[in-house]
Amino acid sequence: MAPTTGGPAPHHLRTRALAVETNQLVKTYPGGVKALDGMELAVESGIVFGLLGPNGAGKSTTVKILTTLARPDAGTAAVAGHDVLRHPGRVRAAIGVVAQKSGADPVATGRENLLLQRRLYGLRGAACARRADELLARFDLADAGNRPVKGYSGGMCHRLDVALGLVHRPEVLFLDEPTTGLDPEARAAMWEEIARLAGEDGLTIVLTTHYLEEADRLAERIAIVDRGRVVVEGTPDELKGELRGDAVHLELSEAVADGAEPPLRDALTALPGVHEVAVDGRRVSARADDGAAAVPTLLTALERAGAAVATATVARPSLDDVYLRYAGRSFDEAEAAAEAPVPAGAAGGVR
Ligand SMILES: Nc1ncnc2c1ncn2[C@@H]1O[C@H](COP(=O)(O)OP(=O)(O)O)[C@@H](O)[C@H]1O
Ligand SMILES: [Mg+2]
Repeated sequence: MAPTTGGPAPHHLRTRALAVETNQLVKTYPGGVKALDGMELAVESGIVFGLLGPNGAGKSTTVKILTTLARPDAGTAAVAGHDVLRHPGRVRAAIGVVAQKSGADPVATGRENLLLQRRLYGLRGAACARRADELLARFDLADAGNRPVKGYSGGMCHRLDVALGLVHRPEVLFLDEPTTGLDPEARAAMWEEIARLAGEDGLTIVLTTHYLEEADRLAERIAIVDRGRVVVEGTPDELKGELRGDAVHLELSEAVADGAEPPLRDALTALPGVHEVAVDGRRVSARADDGAAAVPTLLTALERAGAAVATATVARPSLDDVYLRYAGRSFDEAEAAAEAPVPAGAAGGVR
């Protein structure tokens, strides 16, 4: 299936029930920042869905609306089949949320935190204690369960947060930037945990991230968000497959003479499966249907033309390329723009 731009799949393509559905969500914060500008999402049940976008794209605002912590100015949203505005209580019962900031009480132990959370959902007694033990074991916190949370490492706190989000067996789990600020080791552990959760019966995970690699690895489907709307949606492979071929970069040991560039370019373009050849001094670049297969062919052709190749690299299309194509600017540029100061008069004081 080809990736879809600007919205969810049409009804006839939907096979499973939707865990999340939004329709033209709009949200403007006081001060005039338009955080959401027609956000359309359709998330099938039982998958890990990645909401990928640069800082300021509107990911957290979307999560806040879906978890009933904020109201949209316009548009509708349903989670686990319940409208977020009409039945916020039902939505809350069906979801788990792991926010960026820990919700655990540092003075209480891990077990006490889990029991308290469970009680908040109206559950008590033996079953409650059993669930707490089950989660402590599952998140490798069995030994630490009776120690106060303030003595936990960063990774342990994170695992407890996820356990807290799962206490009442939610249908949909929201993870807002689960690895931002984690060191590489804790991030790898978190990735493993999310992959493990993904296997849990029927659980849908909505994960927001501004790490391209994280979305690529963990999410079955990705919606790339930019400026409050979805610019493209699909599986990582579909998204990357849309871009024609791999990028091949060759560096020659010596620059090609000026007059020799055009004939060389033509000769390389004539090779099967090779397109968009550019020759510039010592640099030769091209796109190829299959980069690895094209390299030997290119090397032979260059040798024949009397050009020796010093290095060759092949790059598979990345989500970076996908973002550039659909958002019209590079991901890094968008991240940098998000950090730039807001123009005078547009700044919203409310946080
Ligand atoms: N409470 C708020 N008041 C004013 N502006 C906000 C508030 N929360 C977020 N914004 C702005 O809305 C935009 C989207 O923010 P957010 O949803 O947090 O994006 P993301 O999570 O993708 O980084 C940003 O420009 C941000 O500065
Ligand atoms: Mg955010």
